[in-house]
Amino acid sequence: MKDFFAVSGLGGKKVLSGTIPVYGSKNALAPALAAPFVFREPLSLSNVPLLEDLKRTEELFSDIGVSAKARGRTYTFTVPKSIETSLSEDIAKRIRASILLTGPILARFGSVSFPHPGGCVIGERPIDIFLEGYRAMGAIVRETRRHYYIRAPKGGLRGATFYFRTQSVTGTETFALAALLSHGTTVLKNAAIEPEITELLTFLRASGAEIEGIGTQTLVIRGGGLLKRRAPRYRIIPDRIEAGSFLILAALAGKKVTVRNCEPAHLDSILHFLSHAGVSLAVEKTAVTVTARRDGTAYRSVGIKTHEYPGFPTDLQAPAVVFLTQAEGDTTVFETIFEGRLNYTDELNRMGADIRMMDPHRVLVKGPTRLSGKTLESPDLRAGLAYLIAGIVANGRSVIHNAYHVDRGYERIEERLRAIGVPIERKTK
Ligand code: EPZ
Repeated sequence: MKDFFAVSGLGGKKVLSGTIPVYGSKNALAPALAAPFVFREPLSLSNVPLLEDLKRTEELFSDIGVSAKARGRTYTFTVPKSIETSLSEDIAKRIRASILLTGPILARFGSVSFPHPGGCVIGERPIDIFLEGYRAMGAIVRETRRHYYIRAPKGGLRGATFYFRTQSVTGTETFALAALLSHGTTVLKNAAIEPEITELLTFLRASGAEIEGIGTQTLVIRGGGLLKRRAPRYRIIPDRIEAGSFLILAALAGKKVTVRNCEPAHLDSILHFLSHAGVSLAVEKTAVTVTARRDGTAYRSVGIKTHEYPGFPTDLQAPAVVFLTQAEGDTTVFETIFEGRLNYTDELNRMGADIRMMDPHRVLVKGPTRLSGKTLESPDLRAGLAYLIAGIVANGRSVIHNAYHVDRGYERIEERLRAIGVPIERKTK
């Protein structure tokens, strides 16, 4: 069955009000699901977002022999003495983040095999950095057209000094986990510093891991074997991309909307962008409130260049472009991370936006433009959410297909949007 969303556009009116909660971060959950492999005992995760990627990972875990027990948003994972170390083709291909599991599994069990995680619409998504890193740690990598077979050396992976030719979030996470179960010291240079990485490494250090440089681009990790859990569970941090997406929606269609259970300290880039555009924001400890300006003047358009954290997140680029179609002025959006992450803008032009593709990494957005409802196909989870926001702002009705994509990153999105007044329904065709 393929779900889709039906949205009745508000025609630019700012009528949404109330509070919208932020759930646990999809991109904090991904590395946290790889963490159980470095612990001696079962590991519990709390504040887990109930997303499609979690279900796929549970399927993958039951395939390889890792058990999962769920109690609400707390999940406990038990890794047995031996597991099946080949990740099944159909599931692993459906979640790019399964690549994260390969480092700790290789380090703990001495081998891992998996299909190419597959590119997606945002770009080719190569894994050359992962293979280079495993080789640097002494592993033998054999690859066929569609599959990789990796074997650790006899005595296990060896610590290595590794420079990331480009910062990789999941690359940093998987090597940090693998390093804990390797012999000797691993130094990761030009490592990514996303909050999801810092939170995980801080938890691992609190569990006895010897890690220096947390929060910096140079990590020094001493292999010390399986960790003994010290804290009862690892809490998944609020999703900064959900929070930023809801703030953009609130700015475009809100009368007074509070985004709660978020972590404002992770939102500097989006808060700066919105306040620079003239959005009135009130920031509290774990909430941000957007209030419509009485004078009703249009927002100013503000240029965007996506960049690794703490720069403007590429995962907020699509929702921010929808915002720019409603702001006064012409501005360039420079998507520096992924080469395919601006293709969704054609559909926004079909709705009435004026977005010109200058090259695969740059568009020029002219605003404000009136959008009219259309039938759209979500190409990926972030553009899917951007289409929902565009449909809410537009005049008339929109239908957004492939709700599955949106469900990968935003749990029960239509319930949370309806609660602040969005006329949205989930339907099944
Ligand atoms: C993480 O993806 C996020 N996913 C992505 O979120 C996010 O967009 C991305 O980081 C950038 O912030 C998770 O954390 C699960 P990368 P990741 O490795 O780690 C190149 C979402 O919508 N690269 O940081 O897979 C790559 O092509 C998703 O939630 C190589 O060249 O991204 C890209 O240009 C989408 N070779 C750059 O590095 C490699 O071996 C950054 O990619 C690996 C990456």
